[in-house]
Amino acid sequence: MEVAYNKHYYAGSRQELVAKIAAELSDFRFRHVLGVEKAALELAQNNGVDLELASVAALVHDYAKEKSDQEFLAMIDACQLDPDLKNWSNFIWHGVVGAEIIRQELGIEDEAILNAVRRHTVGAVNMTRLDQIVYVADYIEENRDFPGVKTARAIAKNDLKEAVAFETSHTLAHLIANEKTIYPAAISTYNAWVCGR
Ligand SMILES: [Fe+2]
Ligand SMILES: [Fe+2]
Repeated sequence: MEVAYNKHYYAGSRQELVAKIAAELSDFRFRHVLGVEKAALELAQNNGVDLELASVAALVHDYAKEKSDQEFLAMIDACQLDPDLKNWSNFIWHGVVGAEIIRQELGIEDEAILNAVRRHTVGAVNMTRLDQIVYVADYIEENRDFPGVKTARAIAKNDLKEAVAFETSHTLAHLIANEKTIYPAAISTYNAWVCGR
């Protein structure tokens, strides 16, 4: 499904946006991004979210993923973002700092889209339906292959919030099993979406 762009979230056509993204990403990640858009459009249709909004947010969500650490660190200073961010890495930066790069390089100013990018990696206590869609689409898109992905897709078809909870719970369990550092906001997401507090 190809969404026509006419709401000016992006000052150009979908095709022009796709070309800019393709130029920034490896083939592997570009394919992932197109998969996320496809999944996001399905979720948007099922959950009453504007398709153009979902398309733009999904297409740009990993725009900054292959930027250098130097670029992210400079952006944290330039935008006066929380200096603690410097203690983290690409995994966290490409969402929170990536949103500022997207604003600057793609001219996307819509806060709903930028927030969906900021929240796509570790979620948040409060997530809009668009945030939930990008978060879940990122996890279930057709190129993903991991134990549990089929269950995640089935849940997402029926209940978006339940899919957020499933993804959050499984991601955290995976990090713990591998003794990986957990970004504090991910724990807040877990408490809110999995434990309901
Ligand atoms: Fe990402
Ligand atoms: Fe992604």
